[in-house]
Amino acid sequence: MPSLPSCRLFPSPEAASKALADEICQLIDSRSADGKTTVLGLATGNTPTRLYAELIRLHHEGLSFRDVITFNLDEYIGISREHPESYWQFMHHHLFNHIDIAPENIHIPDCGVSEQNLENYCSAYEERISEAGGIDLQVLGIGRNGHIGFNEPGATSDLPTHVTELNPVTVNDAAEAFGGIAKVPRRAITMGVRTILGAQRIALLAFGEGKAQIVKRALTPGITSEVPATYLQAHESTAFFLDHGASTALQ
Ligand code: PGA
Repeated sequence: MPSLPSCRLFPSPEAASKALADEICQLIDSRSADGKTTVLGLATGNTPTRLYAELIRLHHEGLSFRDVITFNLDEYIGISREHPESYWQFMHHHLFNHIDIAPENIHIPDCGVSEQNLENYCSAYEERISEAGGIDLQVLGIGRNGHIGFNEPGATSDLPTHVTELNPVTVNDAAEAFGGIAKVPRRAITMGVRTILGAQRIALLAFGEGKAQIVKRALTPGITSEVPATYLQAHESTAFFLDHGASTALQ
């Protein structure tokens, strides 16, 4: 039986982000030294921005992303890549524009896939992850409702990359950024829980007291689809990187 995710506590989001960036740096360096690529699963949201800033800093100190392949967790459906809230924009702004990754090694679900191609597109995305050798390390945030990627409450654990409806909490949380709730897309492409649990290593970042209760639930024994982050309890190598605020509800 896998044990519960391990917990690493840090005094600040910066310290937690630095620790994860160091782990990623070591992974890339050791795999590159063996002539292997590193496959990273990446997340968007406020939480990982400090991680990406730290990876850029490490790049300026010599870390190369030439042998790195990335797959993002999710993307809204029905906006354009140029939309300021698209995850394509987010990733390029916060990370990809500042490192030496090859553009063909970047994979972010396409927000503009036509309705009739969505299913094939999701299968092909999943296939590409397999062809790359599977994900070595997946970065995750956690939604206030326990979502991981866009696997919202009620998500089953057996799905690969798929189309999903956004939960009302998620839509609400995105309303300000989109300039009103009516403008928030209602659907997204997301890696499924099965895809996420297929990663060799999972690192979940959570910062601030607003995440304390959901972090506590995610780490309380008992897997339930109502809190998709509890599925991580079934994974062999998951670590939660928490700042002080996010850990306040833990004993
Ligand atoms: P946040 O979102 O990083 O903006 O808090 C996390 C998530 O919803 O996964």
